[in-house]
Amino acid sequence: MKANAPTEIPEKARVTFQPSGKETRVLEHTLISDAALDAGLRIESVCGGKGTCGKCCARIVQGEVSEATSAEEKFFTPEELNQGMCLLCQRRILGDAVVSIDRDFEATRDYAPDKGALPEASLELDSHVAKTYLELDPPTIKDQQPDLERVLNFLPDQVAPDPEILSALPHRLRKSDYLVTSVVINGRLMAIEKGNTLKQCYGIAVDVGTTTVAAYLVDLGTSEILASGSLGNRQDRYGADVISRISHTQNGPEKLGHMKELVVQTIDEIVGNLLEISGVDSRNIYIVSIVGNTVMSHFLMGVSAEHIASAPFVPVFSRLPILTVESLGLKSLTPQTRFFLLPNIAGYVGADTAGMILSTKIYEGSGTRLAIDIGTNGEMVLALKGRLLTCSTAAGPAFEGGSISQGMRAEPGAIYAVRLDGDVLLKSVDNQPPKGVCGSGFVDVISEMVRLGIINRMGRIVAPSDCPDGVPPLVKRRITQNGTGNRFVLSNKDHGVILTQKDVSELQLAKGAIRAGIEILMEEVGLSAGDLDQVLLAGAFGSGLRAGSLKGIGLLPNVPLDRISSVGNAAGKGAVMALLSRKQKALAEKVTKVCEHVELSTHKRFSEKFARALLFD
Ligand code: FES
Repeated sequence: MKANAPTEIPEKARVTFQPSGKETRVLEHTLISDAALDAGLRIESVCGGKGTCGKCCARIVQGEVSEATSAEEKFFTPEELNQGMCLLCQRRILGDAVVSIDRDFEATRDYAPDKGALPEASLELDSHVAKTYLELDPPTIKDQQPDLERVLNFLPDQVAPDPEILSALPHRLRKSDYLVTSVVINGRLMAIEKGNTLKQCYGIAVDVGTTTVAAYLVDLGTSEILASGSLGNRQDRYGADVISRISHTQNGPEKLGHMKELVVQTIDEIVGNLLEISGVDSRNIYIVSIVGNTVMSHFLMGVSAEHIASAPFVPVFSRLPILTVESLGLKSLTPQTRFFLLPNIAGYVGADTAGMILSTKIYEGSGTRLAIDIGTNGEMVLALKGRLLTCSTAAGPAFEGGSISQGMRAEPGAIYAVRLDGDVLLKSVDNQPPKGVCGSGFVDVISEMVRLGIINRMGRIVAPSDCPDGVPPLVKRRITQNGTGNRFVLSNKDHGVILTQKDVSELQLAKGAIRAGIEILMEEVGLSAGDLDQVLLAGAFGSGLRAGSLKGIGLLPNVPLDRISSVGNAAGKGAVMALLSRKQKALAEKVTKVCEHVELSTHKRFSEKFARALLFD
């Protein structure tokens, strides 16, 4: 008999990442970006690995990697390429290598309790979880009631048991001397716990954003937020926007499954950390409330969002019953923990907007009120005389610093505030030397450049010789030129932070889309944008932007500043409110049913409004 030829084991190369020292072994020809993920690093990828966003910029310290691609030649000068600069999504490992990555997005984690998400003291607690302490009589020869009936006798008639509790029930009753606490959710008896556990009753609210996932661990008895935290959504390797991610899932059913896994892993990691910090036992987390845009809620359920991507933008579902986290595949919680999603409103107006409606109470009060979540999608709600109109605009990642050449999150070294007053005055996070600009700094500097006339009405950075008279010489000196047009040097320390013409154009498109949306919603109710009585800026990014600067770039209409306020993570706060109160959950379901969605992509006046809103005047 002929012996089988020995199977050849392919060689693996060792890849080490600095400064973290994280290491992995991968097959030759693996993309360095995949090796980094394998090593447990998170890489920002706005373009989904197409080599167009430049966010995965790094440096090869030593080792064998593939040649620079044409995409990299557009990003780096020949000198920079010689120094080892590269885009991780473009290079492949050919042998052992050491790679220096400046930023690992794990550094954005933050587990400090977020008091901003606390519900108002006036919120009436009406918990989804009913716990009852039971002192049961042990069975006797004269009392041969089955164990289950012995418990159910003390609970409301309509309560039915989860079959999963039956196998553990006899042991649990006898081991606890018939002193137990029952746990009922939505009419189902989901657990029998030993002793009196009335005080251990917790839930988690989750806001699944395209960029960031945030979660809050809440004491359902006191409404106190015990811990909160956020992490970048692990799906970001497939692009910053939902359309890129939907495209990826269309490459095969396993891609959709992987997309679900990535968001579930992100939630699992945050929840695991919240449990560790708070010391809460995962068995005492009974319910999870989730908000997110419509595409994120589809991915979380493992459901294709392909029909949301093209007209008529139809989702598979808008509302679902209360389910177990087992169906999500969450591992950080016990399988029988329940979860619910707040309802989606339309293909691009999701449960996060439902959360925003709930927490801002925009449906109450008089006057014309507008709430905007400024993020990758600019979702907005206009309330007037009992009507609620919604729309969403494809703003892109510019406000989050995503599509900006030196854009970054608000990490140490990010420029977050700018004034052009005699000179360029900057503030950077933690007073670290500037190494990039985050959303608020970006909007500030554009607003200031528009104010001084350094950016003209059409959105062009003018040459120093064309600057209006009032531009201070020290500011004028910051305008430089290269082959692609005029640029503005925000900081000339170290490698420098430069604003390019392309950056300005990115913001122009984003602000134009949102402003056009505002104009159309106001037109639908027979008013103009200047008639707004109140503007609420929501979202982790939106509420960090200065109202004056948003007016300065023309994203917001010319309403007095005292009518504009920031409301923080309104979607997350809405998720907390629905977690604490069945009435709030029911209210979210009721108000979202009466929302009138205005589809902008096919609106006959959108192009005209958008073209007008692109101008800086
Ligand atoms: S350039 Fe590499 S992810 Fe965009």
